[in-house]
Amino acid sequence: MAAIITGLAISLAACCRAAVDGETWMDNCEYGCTYRKGALCQCNRGCVHYHDCCKDYEEKCGSGPSPAPSPTPGPLPPSGPKGGPEQLHLALGEDPSVVTVSFVSSKAFPKCQCSLADAQSKKIIASFAGDTSQYTDGNWIGLMHVVRMDGMQADTTYSYTCDDSKTFYTFRTAPVVGTLPVTIAAVADLGEDCDRVGCGNATIAALAADTSYSMLVHAGDLAYTHGHPMIWDNFMLEMQPITTRVPYMVCVGNHEHYFNFSGYRSRFNMPGSLAKANQNLWYSFDHGGVHWAAFSTEHDLEMQTAWLEMDLKTADANRAKVPWVVVFAHKPLYCSTNDYYDCRVGAEKIASVIEPLLKKYKVDLMLAGHLHNYERSWPVFGGNVTAKSYVDPQATTHIIIGGAGDDEGLTDRWLTPPDWSATHDGKDVGYARLHFENATIMKFDYVHSASGKVADSFTIVRSVAPSMTKAKLVV
Ligand SMILES: [Fe+2]
Repeated sequence: MAAIITGLAISLAACCRAAVDGETWMDNCEYGCTYRKGALCQCNRGCVHYHDCCKDYEEKCGSGPSPAPSPTPGPLPPSGPKGGPEQLHLALGEDPSVVTVSFVSSKAFPKCQCSLADAQSKKIIASFAGDTSQYTDGNWIGLMHVVRMDGMQADTTYSYTCDDSKTFYTFRTAPVVGTLPVTIAAVADLGEDCDRVGCGNATIAALAADTSYSMLVHAGDLAYTHGHPMIWDNFMLEMQPITTRVPYMVCVGNHEHYFNFSGYRSRFNMPGSLAKANQNLWYSFDHGGVHWAAFSTEHDLEMQTAWLEMDLKTADANRAKVPWVVVFAHKPLYCSTNDYYDCRVGAEKIASVIEPLLKKYKVDLMLAGHLHNYERSWPVFGGNVTAKSYVDPQATTHIIIGGAGDDEGLTDRWLTPPDWSATHDGKDVGYARLHFENATIMKFDYVHSASGKVADSFTIVRSVAPSMTKAKLVV
């Protein structure tokens, strides 16, 4: 490794400036980025301009898309919740009768529990005991609790309260599987409140004010902790007005790397036995008439493909009941900024494994983030647009929703738009709102968080509903 660093320093010196002994960062002129000398495989993380990357990334670090070893920050001061229960957040259960509540506290409760109440009278209907676990990575001092509430009616409003909280929160259970319409909100790369332009403040406020959606999807890079678990606490407190009201369904991104993703794996409780076994890294669920599958771009894709293929195959066979299929993950298959690794290396590597499955099982939408902007594709496969229309699309539409806002700011450095790229936006923070009207119409809006303006909109239209397609094929 030492020889590589020396050689690289010489070549870079010719175009930019020589690396100085003891200097943490080196410049790479061609891509306008810097990276850590001592951790070349993390160059993608260390670039001054977010997600620019070293042109020699692959040569030095091998194939992606899971390049960085799990980073561990230096010694951190103790942090954790003060009191609690706090940072409450809901997740869907395995069916509409089940909801999971997760929260943290500094103190142990005699019994970890939440109580379900009538939404109007607040009369307690049932109480549910949960589990408590300790978490100490990053010198975090506190307890994590999870309570599974079940036996509820679908599409019904309830209240609940947990342990010695004096607060009742109100939420609505998911509709019966197969029911449409449903409206959901989706973000990626949303971090805690901060003072810089492009932070997530406006998006968190907008999501809290928007009562039109029944579930929030977050496609990775959740809190931008930079390894400090107290930022998890800050972020989850800021999100609490949203996550106590609607299920918060997440997948893992590169900013969850710290301590082997343990903050992410410990704080969330996604539905199903697979999510429980792998601690939320890849899993799927049905919400109304939409099937959702989440995979991890931060882990070996090959070990997820057998599951993903089986899941999408099952979902595709169930279209008569659940007509729409959406996949979400953190890093995209398509992007067109000048981020060398993400858009020219990583995206192709992810696509080589995942895209055949999206095509084979006719996945309607692929949501991703990682790039801090918004970009919508035409229906596309293998880089080729099947039609510049969303009427009866013959391939998946890919959308980057990474412009929600975080302390790294927005990415607005675009290449000449490829043929597959329908539109992009890197100037305003925003979030997505997806309205699945019925089996044949899905309307997608990209909303600017500060103004509430719908900045982009498109509608997928099927001329024939999936169930009727099947009948027609038989004939
Ligand atoms: Fe990311």
